[in-house]
Amino acid sequence: MMTDILQELEDRRQDARMGGGQKRIDAQHAKGKLTARERIELLLDEDSFEEYDTFVTHRCTDFGMEDNAPAGDGVVTGWGTVNGRMVYVYSQDFTVLGGSVSATHAQKICKIMDMAVQNGAPVIGLNDSGGARIQEGVDALAGYAEIFQRNIMASGVVPQISVIMGPCAGGAVYSPAMTDFIFMVKDSSYMFVTGPDVVKTVTNEQVTAEELGGASTHTRKSSVADGAFENDVEALAEVRRLVDFLPLNNREKPPVRPFFDDVNRLENSLDTLVPENANTPYDMKELIHKTADEGDFYEIQEDFAKNIITGFIRLEGQTVGVVANQPMVLAGCLDIDSSRKAARFVRFCDAFEVPILTFVDVPGFLPGTSQEYGGVIKHGAKLLFAYGEATVPKVTVITRKAYGGAYDVMASKHLRGDMNYAWPTAEIAVMGAKGATEILYRSELGDPDKIAKRTKDYEDRFANPFVAAERGFIDEVIMPHSTRKRVSRAFAALRSKKLTNPWKKHDNIPL
Ligand code: HXC
Repeated sequence: MMTDILQELEDRRQDARMGGGQKRIDAQHAKGKLTARERIELLLDEDSFEEYDTFVTHRCTDFGMEDNAPAGDGVVTGWGTVNGRMVYVYSQDFTVLGGSVSATHAQKICKIMDMAVQNGAPVIGLNDSGGARIQEGVDALAGYAEIFQRNIMASGVVPQISVIMGPCAGGAVYSPAMTDFIFMVKDSSYMFVTGPDVVKTVTNEQVTAEELGGASTHTRKSSVADGAFENDVEALAEVRRLVDFLPLNNREKPPVRPFFDDVNRLENSLDTLVPENANTPYDMKELIHKTADEGDFYEIQEDFAKNIITGFIRLEGQTVGVVANQPMVLAGCLDIDSSRKAARFVRFCDAFEVPILTFVDVPGFLPGTSQEYGGVIKHGAKLLFAYGEATVPKVTVITRKAYGGAYDVMASKHLRGDMNYAWPTAEIAVMGAKGATEILYRSELGDPDKIAKRTKDYEDRFANPFVAAERGFIDEVIMPHSTRKRVSRAFAALRSKKLTNPWKKHDNIPL
């Protein structure tokens, strides 16, 4: 009977939807976690999900696995839309064999990754897995490596986003590690290469899974993750918000969204943002919020290397990546962590045609043995390299200090900055006045009056933007209150910028 045949499809679908069964679904909920399908529902626009490979099962016959072959094999895959824009998604189902990765589970993921690259849409991976399926041995490892290879090939072609929503251990961490953004859910996710038991055996350190690889560890200490969220619902909502800023692939411009914020809006409060005393900090985020359309700022790596700020805003509806020194933390200096953080962000922006806005208030690089021994030379060079190779529109505003090598690094004119602005409060020099006079007039150090005069002379000469402006290194000195307007107009003028680097296989950025 025809109706029976149709009914069979419905029954099989219903069976697949139940994953590992009600008991395991309840256990998942009891841990405060949603199921793989519930997560997809929250991530995508209503009714937009098109599932593939619902009926795929593994082909393992070892350890009695032939009697335990649930439809879908522990991962739900397909595509759907986020605010009308296409994304591919895979969502590991912990209720089915612990979401473990078999050869066929991996094939399902590879299938949607291949389609994503071919059709030019982001890949979003919702990770919740016990790792390589133990019963499958090397077949599972092979499956992982197939995913890794695709992560690498897709890098810079389509945005890849990973959300860690459960365990993610061993070699399994390396797929998310190669994606553009990693988000974690607080208290219910962890990532580590070797778990607490192995750590105890090898190094005798006693550490919990949460301490070793929880959201706090990876957003504050290791910088492996770009953001941490309270629960599954918040994490998925924030991924939607991020997707709205991103282009679908590297051949497309970022989306232009409707905006309701006057591009000519003046912010008089910015005229007094920089304090009278050059050593007093102020919050650079205020400038970012007051520049952005509707004050909307999507921060990346908010809790790591807080001396530099990275994230996305919109200007006239268009996505712009922001990099800004933060005078509130370590006086906004560059160091190993902040250089790495910003370099990776700049390279993401450049790969995906996102213009870069840089706000500069940097007293230089952080001195110290820990910095030098840690390789600040190479890490600082990452940021320099990233800015210098970037061909997207680059607009820079120096609000206060731009000293020494850090002046060069922070998207200066000399690194092909397209529009380099400075506020009247800018100080562009090799170093601060005090340090400079102590070197230049060492013999007068015993005479405080003389030194004070020398310092004053140096400040009068260099503690301003005009020496640089006279040379054309600063294109224009602008009023702080008109920053939004000036910067928006600059990006508008750069919309059809064309700049290409010489042909090469790839560069050799100091890693
Ligand atoms: C097969 C697995 C599995 C795995 C979990 N399960 N991990 N099945 N292969 N890797 C199954 C369990 O048997 C169980 O089945 C169900 O999933 C839920 O697991 P529980 O242990 O009951 O859940 P929980 O107590 O929450 O613990 C979760 C866990 C634990 C911490 C992830 O399951 C665990 O330690 N699993 C093994 C992790 C591991 O060693 N993976 C391989 C490492 S190598 P039932 O039927 O009882 O529900 C690796 C690296 C990849 O992953 C290499 C890539 C290069």
